[in-house]
Amino acid sequence: MAQCEGGAGSWQAALARRLTAVFREAFGSEPRELQFVLAPYRLCPLGAHVDHQLGLATGMALDRGVLLAFAPNEAKRVRVRSLDFPGLVEFPLDAVPAGTAGDWGNYVRGATMALTEHYELLTGMDAVIGGSVPIGGLSSSAAVGCAYLLALEKVNALDVDAFANISLDQRIENGYLGLQNGILDQSMILLAKRSHLAFLDCQARTVESIPPAASLPNVDLLIVHSGVTQALTGTDYNQRVAQCGEAAKRLLQLAGEPAPQRARLRGVPREVYLRHRDKLPLELRKRAVHFFSECERVTAGVAAWRRGDLEAFGHLVRDSGRSSLENYECGSPELTSLYTILCQCEGVLGARFSGAGFRGSCIGFSDPSRREQIRETLAAQYRAAHPNAATRMEVHFCASAGGARFVHLVG
Ligand code: GLA
Repeated sequence: MAQCEGGAGSWQAALARRLTAVFREAFGSEPRELQFVLAPYRLCPLGAHVDHQLGLATGMALDRGVLLAFAPNEAKRVRVRSLDFPGLVEFPLDAVPAGTAGDWGNYVRGATMALTEHYELLTGMDAVIGGSVPIGGLSSSAAVGCAYLLALEKVNALDVDAFANISLDQRIENGYLGLQNGILDQSMILLAKRSHLAFLDCQARTVESIPPAASLPNVDLLIVHSGVTQALTGTDYNQRVAQCGEAAKRLLQLAGEPAPQRARLRGVPREVYLRHRDKLPLELRKRAVHFFSECERVTAGVAAWRRGDLEAFGHLVRDSGRSSLENYECGSPELTSLYTILCQCEGVLGARFSGAGFRGSCIGFSDPSRREQIRETLAAQYRAAHPNAATRMEVHFCASAGGARFVHLVG
């Protein structure tokens, strides 16, 4: 029986057994060197929608994520099966096929493409991938991308540091999948430390891990999935990114400053924003207001975290959620209801949409002694608002964990 960190009863051990069984069935013989890489899901309490504008963000990794079982092959081919999606994805290392919209195989194709742009891959890989729980909006796509990168690097004995992997994963998303996102997800997935708040500066590409202050209360990381799932490439995500860039360009032009080809809001001095924001068309103004106010909330939130003031931190998270709704104008009727319910729910401190916030989950910090009441409140109030989606709602009380890592399994 497989055993791994977290104990034999953990989701990792159970998942590892299923992955091993499918590996055997898909690739024939008992794998001699089956290895496992775990890539956690991430949570971003403050700093939403600012990474693509090179802003400031915070994050943590969760004790849930994806697990990839893999072994080298001599065929110089990549062959991958999934526990959740049908079919075998297979291609030669030196001829990565183009992506197909909505195909789960795009992530391993993109990872192989990103790596071959910088390294010579000589060894192929057989692999099976699965996830701990089907939670959306927690950046499972970046977790999957990071897992493939780490596994391909391992079988090819490549020594690639975390920041290089952050860029490689960005290449998968921007270059292969066509999502114009920033580096929030993979930075958290690769660099988070258990119980710490990661403070990311997307322009400097630095991550500071801030330990919990002694006075910080013990909380659950609450994840509530709305029951609504949709790939980000099918949302208005890229359109919002373009609007932010346009707002940056116009602000610089209004100030008589040269605007680069791809202007970002981080490149706009604060005085320029304050002096000229009212001259922007409403939509662009709102995007700029979100960016500048969100970066301020991140700075204030990091200070609150350092002094162990979770209440102040929670208020900022709630305000950040409101800005996502009113200024960034994302959300869906279901996510907005969940956000409103959580903001008023006793025992929940700070709530907001997770990730892009067009579908998926809401997150919050919650009091572990109130789990049952929180479940009941959510079930009753969400059912009343969205009876259909409520049948698929999921509530998870999670803990923080470290970033992506190889996990040891004893067969
Ligand atoms: C998604 C993207 C990230 C980030 C968040 C919003 O998760 O992948 O890059 O923009 O949305 O903060």
